[in-house]
Amino acid sequence: MSVFRTKSVEQSIRDTEEPEHQLKKELSALDLTVFGIGVIIGTGIFVLTGVAANGVAGPAVALSFVAAAIACGLAALCYAELASTVPVAGSAYTFSYATLGELVAWIIGWDLALEFVLAAAVVAVGWSQYFAAMLQTLGLQLPGPIAGGDEGVFNLPAVLIVLILTAILVVGIKISARFNAVIVTIKVLVVLFVIATGLFFVKAANYSPFIPPSEPAEAASGGSATLVEAIFGQPPANFGVSGILAAGALVFFAYIGFDIVATTAEETRNPQRDVPRGIIGSLVICTALYVAVSLVVVGMQNYRELNTKAPLAAAFQAVGQPIFANLITLGALAGLTTVMMILMLGQSRVAFAMSRDGLLPRALSKVHPRFGTPYRITVIIGIVVALLAGFIPLEELAELVNIGTLFAFVLVSTAVIVLRRTRPDLPRSFRTPLVPFVPILAVLACITLMMFLTVNTWVRFLIWMAIGLVVYFLYGRRHSRLGQPDGGLTPARGGDTTTSGTTRAD
Ligand code: ALA
Repeated sequence: MSVFRTKSVEQSIRDTEEPEHQLKKELSALDLTVFGIGVIIGTGIFVLTGVAANGVAGPAVALSFVAAAIACGLAALCYAELASTVPVAGSAYTFSYATLGELVAWIIGWDLALEFVLAAAVVAVGWSQYFAAMLQTLGLQLPGPIAGGDEGVFNLPAVLIVLILTAILVVGIKISARFNAVIVTIKVLVVLFVIATGLFFVKAANYSPFIPPSEPAEAASGGSATLVEAIFGQPPANFGVSGILAAGALVFFAYIGFDIVATTAEETRNPQRDVPRGIIGSLVICTALYVAVSLVVVGMQNYRELNTKAPLAAAFQAVGQPIFANLITLGALAGLTTVMMILMLGQSRVAFAMSRDGLLPRALSKVHPRFGTPYRITVIIGIVVALLAGFIPLEELAELVNIGTLFAFVLVSTAVIVLRRTRPDLPRSFRTPLVPFVPILAVLACITLMMFLTVNTWVRFLIWMAIGLVVYFLYGRRHSRLGQPDGGLTPARGGDTTTSGTTRAD
């Protein structure tokens, strides 16, 4: 029973046809692009721009957005090839299973939970803050203990929104796509509005210096130094070129989500053609919007005065336009809603694929007879996200999401090179250009950003992964369908009547 056994691409595709575990194929390239935009534009642009410009990169935060976009763009080209070759729910998890083996696949599935579940909970907490701001403009206020503020004990708005979104996800992928499309329209209009209106308030003086000279930061205690500083013994500093990269590692969060498009491959009518379009299209559109918004915002207000909680709205307030600020608050609130929903969608599809493979209990991947969604797993994920968002202060953990995602990108990029060697024969409707250079560059770009995350984040990440390994050896390894002596040909426990074809147990 080798932990490096791989699951053939053909079998992964055959598994998608099992009646009890079959998702509805209803999505088009446009749906996927709008899903991508729905999950990408969120906290990153509405909140982190301020943090990154104010204390880390200055007006050059626009370059930080470009740096993060380069890493994402390279990884997106790799995701696009794999998604067009293995159009199966589970994205990076499924790709790893076909190339790097079961243990790596499990690790990546476990790692993706860090990306999706934690990010959804972090965004839910941010959502509740915008919700409180909106209530305030209406002259209303929730009682302190349930409002989700600093002195609260239970974040009621965050829990309620997560549960409502869970219900929408259960009811169907097409309904989710329609709901998403409406909200994405509002969000993109608000972002375009910020760019078009903000331009009139830009002052050239605010761009000077564009890259503020590096200045020493407060001595960071061991864990809060970046890994680069810890390894090379550099004194901690902000701004300058290293500031641009450190801010890039931070605003990387803003791009998280384009990879989720790949998790919906199994629900796409023509995945070979449309998933690459959805991944790359949404990333290109969002990169253009991000660079424009960040340039406008740092042009409206001196970077040292930029607000770190709601920088876009505050910039309009600072130039005497409070009504515009309210509009932006509304846009942010709408925007964060779809981010949470699609993060949970992505998590449910990855867990669905893992459960279908037996690495999580098989019963979880049962699809609803009418809605055609993996309802059991969706509900469980909704409850976990609601509990996390409801009870735990999460700000500190946001960087963990970035490291988890960057790690997934590293493995996916590696998987492209491996699959080209092991299965050159497979039809690839999208081919990553210049293999192996582009995947290698993707790996290097992601590792560079990871090095600019703090030691604390690295330690937490390694602890999470270690827990994952224990779970694999206690459960997944023994229950894996691929590990069954007959390759999972006999019905699994619990009355499953599925069959699967041959497997390659290395
Ligand atoms: N990219 C998403 C956001 O910025 C996660 O909120």
